Amino acid sequence: MSSQTPLWASADFWRKVAIWVTAGSFVILITLTFDSLAKITPGYKQVPAYNVINREIDYKSDAQHLRYIPVVGKEAPLFGRLWSDSEAEALVTLGKKTIQAKNCMNCHTLLGNGAYYAPDLTRAWLDPNWSSSDEREARMLAFLLDPEKNAVTFGSGRKMPNLGITDKEAHGVVAFLKWMSAIDTNGFPHNFKSINHQQD
Ligand code: HEC
Repeated sequence: MSSQTPLWASADFWRKVAIWVTAGSFVILITLTFDSLAKITPGYKQVPAYNVINREIDYKSDAQHLRYIPVVGKEAPLFGRLWSDSEAEALVTLGKKTIQAKNCMNCHTLLGNGAYYAPDLTRAWLDPNWSSSDEREARMLAFLLDPEKNAVTFGSGRKMPNLGITDKEAHGVVAFLKWMSAIDTNGFPHNFKSINHQQD
């Protein structure tokens, strides 16, 4: 009987095709998973290592790609000191966990994810509303510890509630926001202004 059935119509042929397609897809999926993990790991070229919190961060427009790209500049201690690699990781991680625990995404977006009640926080570190690079850290801390009293509101009249974060957590959040602002997000968010707005 099998001698009369053409190859493409035989059950055996399609069983083999199914096995090869499944195995091939599996290999592609595993490869893409590792590729994505590498790209979002701190230290990869678009996601800086945590010790970037020891550096000046700014932006310049990249005329060729029509987008802003981060510029990691000279040494710029955070909270008056330089952080070792492991200290920087611990501080940024504390900030990330605080942001998760307090569910800041209920109102804000981070890297475009979250809600649209309040400003996107991806570049919050660079916001000109902190007045100057020198005052930024102190103002951010004061704001996070008592957002009602230090409200900026950006003309929206909306105020951020006091979320009761500790002084240590606020330091972590500031470090996290500084680190996040150095991620090359392929131009997101579009057209934001930074404190030391650089022209090309
Ligand atoms: C209930 C909504 C709400 C939640 C939750 C919330 N925020 Fe806000 N946040 C706001 C509003 C509204 C503003 C703008 C008002 C202002 O700046 O006074 C703001 C402003 C900010 C700014 C200033 C942004 C800039 O570009 O200058 C930062 C930084 C910030 N929030 C951080 C946080 C962090 C960190 C958390 C979580 C710990 C958080 N927010 C949770 C509503 C919220």
